[in-house]
Amino acid sequence: MQSERPLKVLILAAEIVPFAKVGGLADVVGALPKALQALGHDVRLVMPRYRQVDPNRFHLQPILEAVPVSMGNYQVQVSVCRGEIGDHIPVYMIDAPRYFDRENIYGYTDDGERFILLCRAALETVQALNWSPDVVHCNDWHTGIVPNWMQTIYRDNAFFANTASVYTIHNLAYHGIFGYRLLEVAGVATNGFLYPQIAEFGNVVDIMGRGILFADTVTTVSERYAQEILTPTFGEKLDHLLRSRRDRLFGILNGIDYQEINPATDGYIHTQFDAQSLERRIENKVALQEQMHVPVREDVPLLAMISRLTDQKGFDLLGQIIQPLLAQGIQFVLLGIGDQHYHEMFQSLAARYPEQVAIFLTFNTELARRIYAGSDMFLMPSRFEPCGTSQMNAMRYGCVPIVRQVGGLADTVQEYDPSSGDGNGFVFKNYDPWEFFAAVVRAMALYRFKDIWRTLQQRGMEADHSWNASAKRYVEVYRNAIEYHGTNA
Ligand code: GLC
Repeated sequence: MQSERPLKVLILAAEIVPFAKVGGLADVVGALPKALQALGHDVRLVMPRYRQVDPNRFHLQPILEAVPVSMGNYQVQVSVCRGEIGDHIPVYMIDAPRYFDRENIYGYTDDGERFILLCRAALETVQALNWSPDVVHCNDWHTGIVPNWMQTIYRDNAFFANTASVYTIHNLAYHGIFGYRLLEVAGVATNGFLYPQIAEFGNVVDIMGRGILFADTVTTVSERYAQEILTPTFGEKLDHLLRSRRDRLFGILNGIDYQEINPATDGYIHTQFDAQSLERRIENKVALQEQMHVPVREDVPLLAMISRLTDQKGFDLLGQIIQPLLAQGIQFVLLGIGDQHYHEMFQSLAARYPEQVAIFLTFNTELARRIYAGSDMFLMPSRFEPCGTSQMNAMRYGCVPIVRQVGGLADTVQEYDPSSGDGNGFVFKNYDPWEFFAAVVRAMALYRFKDIWRTLQQRGMEADHSWNASAKRYVEVYRNAIEYHGTNA
């Protein structure tokens, strides 16, 4: 059947594991392609060649030189090298030192230009390689201009005539807001601002909004978040636009990489284990307590957070309950990097409670795995959470999640119900310190009942959060977008 043919999918993203990662976006874009490939599709990726992407370590091969890329009224020459993920899935890296040979991935006044360049160079690259995609799958604001182009400057380009665009929102909080000049750089100034369709009031360009408006299909990373963002509370001023596109909006829960994230084979952790040999897990708790320089105590609940330190993640709620929890004797470990005021908050906490608290203000995959494997409970009191990956990682390692009932957290964690025995964690509803505190207290109470606790752990470990099911849904969405694109052409 014609519609069942394998698809050519071009995926664009600002971060991809293992090359560069700031948040969960990189995990998703590093894992989904492997699952798509396993279903028989031809997937290729494009990202910038940042300074931190070491050509030797990743065996990058130069493939294109001096590709001219138009940036409005000037041109930039880029070169392209090829890396790989999975089973020879190409990752084309745009090499443009003036834009990407920098200390960090984000946080520059010309971020708008930098990612316009990435997108334009991506489309030029596949043309130079004569590989015409069926779908261009864009992720977050960095690549949101592409659907806009597909309906403007690339509209009459025969090479992309059959290319449908899919735009995935990983985090609606980052819009990519810039001044008028960016429209000129992107070559789409003709229509000016798009208020009131998009929240481009105040005469600014909103790239996230443009992605949502122009894509053939819009997705986000959990079903619950797809509903939430239609409301003013979670819509980040784009709820109106999203409601107008609700028939083109789908929620697909992220998976995690079950090959990588696996306590039975993980080389980073002290002792490997699985759901049938949970008794071995304790070795990891001991090793973690040693690394934390806190007393090695099997019976003390060890609570963990691994997260970007931003307002989204609910650190102010944690700040309000952590001292009463410490007063009950718990231990707490934090791994993450982010906003300075949270660094300071945790530094002073660690200084006050050296026997109970250890903080690692960094990003470190090895340590993350040791924390998942060694701690008892995993906290995610997020204000909003499009999907969240850490709660799934934690469950896979037998660490029981305590989460707020939002977005992907609500879709993956269910409160333990003492009467039916169902559930895999602890959940609270409102963004409220008392509710959060109560959820932790319920968890600590159950923690004493080792058999039931073990059941909760096993349930988390045996749940299927692999990419298989979600990748199939993406394929459906891709086909659906292609059909929609065809009828709209
Ligand atoms: C963003 C969201 C997070 C999601 C991730 C991957 O980081 O905040 O909830 O899991 O993207 O989609």
